[in-house]
Amino acid sequence: MTALAEPASERRDTAGLVARRLPGHALEAPFYVSDEFLALDLAAVFSRHWIFVATEAEVPEAGDYVTIDVGPYSVIVLRDDDEQVRALHNVCRHRGSRILHDAAGSVGNLVCGYHQWTYSTDGTLMHAGQQAPGFDKSCFGLKQVAVRSVEGLIFVCLAADPPADFDDVAARITPYLAPHQLRTTKVAAQEDLIEHANWKLVMENNRECYHCEAGHPELTCTFFPTYGYADDEIPKRLLPAHSRYLEATSELERECDARGFPYALISELSGRPTGFRVRREALDGAGESYTRDGRAASRILLGDLDTPRMGRLSLHFQPNSWFHFLGDHIVTFSVLPLAADRTLVRTTWLVHADAVEGVDYDPATLTEVWHQTNAQDGAFVARAQAGVRDPAYSPGPYAPTETDVEEFVAWYIERLKEYANR
Ligand code: FES
Ligand code: FE
Repeated sequence: MTALAEPASERRDTAGLVARRLPGHALEAPFYVSDEFLALDLAAVFSRHWIFVATEAEVPEAGDYVTIDVGPYSVIVLRDDDEQVRALHNVCRHRGSRILHDAAGSVGNLVCGYHQWTYSTDGTLMHAGQQAPGFDKSCFGLKQVAVRSVEGLIFVCLAADPPADFDDVAARITPYLAPHQLRTTKVAAQEDLIEHANWKLVMENNRECYHCEAGHPELTCTFFPTYGYADDEIPKRLLPAHSRYLEATSELERECDARGFPYALISELSGRPTGFRVRREALDGAGESYTRDGRAASRILLGDLDTPRMGRLSLHFQPNSWFHFLGDHIVTFSVLPLAADRTLVRTTWLVHADAVEGVDYDPATLTEVWHQTNAQDGAFVARAQAGVRDPAYSPGPYAPTETDVEEFVAWYIERLKEYANR
């Protein structure tokens, strides 16, 4: 596959800004507002790295598909007739027409509506009418996109030579995710939010909780009030809450040890092509789930779990995703740029496939915390976008609690430099 072209003059401007980026500080305005950086981000990041696009629960049966737009690309993610998850370019091999137009659906075969070229669900061209003698159908299958499912989380890479370290990352995170058995879940709700900000502002906002105390009343119901403080910096007034945190953490670790579930932090967010972070942490309140009181939102626990008090298993991936695995549900987030100042944030809530809506779970309770949190984050990043566009903007310093924001930006800058030196 050919990477997206970038005019030489723009390359000079962007290269200068990349070279002078000051570590520990926000990026300069053009990174967030210019179409040149959007094109560069699509070429250097989204076309070359593994990106999270969907879950296996979204394509449960053979023929089920979702289509995902990544810049100029449209990718069909589907389950083929052999039950394997595949990703195919949504571009007909005849004269290029898009084949599927809906965001999701189910097909027997993939039929191009223009001249009816017909492909099987693995992309093989099965039928092309009125061809000249000697036409070789086997040369015109749909182009495949690299795809990996990690415990049911589907990642694709648009490059011909995807980063090879993904397999190592997948092997290391699998034991953290496995107890939740995503492949036995179903989609309970999905929400697409278009945020009016550059995709990097959306990701930076996700990578810190500096804004949580003031900005996310629903989310922080289940966060210990000491969240974000170093152990030796806990204010006196929060010492009782800190004791509660330590107690809940020891209990969670004991429960995990008894079941052989890993929980320790692994944080490799920069310095490698597939940056990631994983950790299981205790929740405050009832300690079961992301609800206002911390109680499970679904009565049927995931997998073979025998207690809802599994805290939250949080997974972060560069460049475009984060996930929370609870005892009773999973919530996934994917971020895709739509324009320099518009970003799609897709949130998906998964519950056990046997859980019955209205009986075992109430969708409004299940989705309340992250529905509200997403809306609050959307407002924060829209304000940030308006501010970075202002000629008075200059990049400020990150606070110590914004380490993962710096990690995200450092990873991003590494990718741009790697792309420039390819
Ligand atoms: Fe698809 Fe002609 S463009 S069949
Ligand atoms: Fe937030």
